[in-house]
Amino acid sequence: MTAATDNAFVVFDRVQKSYDGETLVVKDLNLDIGRGEFLTMLGPSGSGKTTCLMMLAGFETATHGDILLGGKPINNIPPHKRGIGMVFQNYALFPHMTVAENLAFPLEVRKIGKSEREEKVQRALDMVQMGAFGGRRPAQLSGGQQQRIALARALVFEPELVLMDEPLGALDKQLREHMQFEITRLAHNLGITTVYVTHDQTEALTMSDRVAVFNDGRIQQLAAPDELYEQPQNSFVAQFIGENNTLMGTVKEIKDGVALVVLDDGEVIDAKPVNVSNPGDRTLVSIRPERVEINKDRLSPDAHLVHAEVLEFIYMGDIYRTRLRVAGNEDFVIKTRNAPDQRRLKPGEHIEIGWLPQDCRALDAP
Ligand SMILES: Nc1ncnc2c1ncn2[C@@H]1O[C@H](COP(=O)(O)OP(=O)(O)OP(=O)(O)O)[C@@H](O)[C@H]1O
Ligand SMILES: [Mg+2]
Repeated sequence: MTAATDNAFVVFDRVQKSYDGETLVVKDLNLDIGRGEFLTMLGPSGSGKTTCLMMLAGFETATHGDILLGGKPINNIPPHKRGIGMVFQNYALFPHMTVAENLAFPLEVRKIGKSEREEKVQRALDMVQMGAFGGRRPAQLSGGQQQRIALARALVFEPELVLMDEPLGALDKQLREHMQFEITRLAHNLGITTVYVTHDQTEALTMSDRVAVFNDGRIQQLAAPDELYEQPQNSFVAQFIGENNTLMGTVKEIKDGVALVVLDDGEVIDAKPVNVSNPGDRTLVSIRPERVEINKDRLSPDAHLVHAEVLEFIYMGDIYRTRLRVAGNEDFVIKTRNAPDQRRLKPGEHIEIGWLPQDCRALDAP
């Protein structure tokens, strides 16, 4: 594990959860979250993200295992005594209170005086660009506005730990990006530990110190954003994070840290063996569009090249995006920078492509 272990603020220790006593929706979850860390749970719908937050918040109990907060098991601490700020998927504001009263509530509970309260409420409202809406009731706000108020209410009492479940789902792109920046800035400035849930991978990569990729009730990989993107540990993570080209093949040999893979059309490529170990293993090789090279001079002379047919060329301004047929895959995409020396490929053209072996990962065949 990483440095978080030394200073773990939140610990999931072999946690399992079943709602019906039969199927596990969270399976053997082990996760340490460091003090002040911004950790994102990313994964497809139904993978168990909200369930994990609910157990941490105290609204669900773990079927097995322990959850620790600041070194202590939380089972016996009621939700309102855990000092956790929360924004849920269905941002439930108190409907009978005004926006300002909604925000003042967690401060009143904590016995904060009136003038300090008003100051904090105003600051939190300004942060979400809702400074003029203090007097409205939730029913008089749009969905996105309600979501921003829910966010302000979770942060207004400067909790040590904040749980956010898709807090920006209802916002338009521009506001969403603004809020992503505001949330990370605030969390870091105030030293708040944040557990953030999203199924937007760009959001996860740009906001987080570490990302836990969930699938089927398990963490598939837990890593910093760059590591997750560049070194996916299995084919699920490789395909879930970022754009990715995949080719099916069989391992021919593994030597000096390089796997020779025979693709299903008979061509041979070099790849880094990640979770293949023996000749004969089926593998899904994965390569990012921006790591594919069409200029042979940039590769080592003994690099294996693969034949490709250009199917489509798309000019995108800063980059060129070209779709190729490679080893029977018609969705093989490459991205090249729009630079003076870069050629625009034409549909119908036949070319050779290659890559550095370390950029092509031989993963498990799903
Ligand atoms: N209260 C409940 N009772 C029974 N089953 C539930 C309950 N809440 C969630 N589940 C089931 O547990 C699994 C995990 O659900 P969870 O809400 O944790 O997923 P999620 O990762 O948050 O998904 P989404 O991205 O759609 O919000 C799902 O199969 C869901 O149907
Ligand atoms: Mg959810």
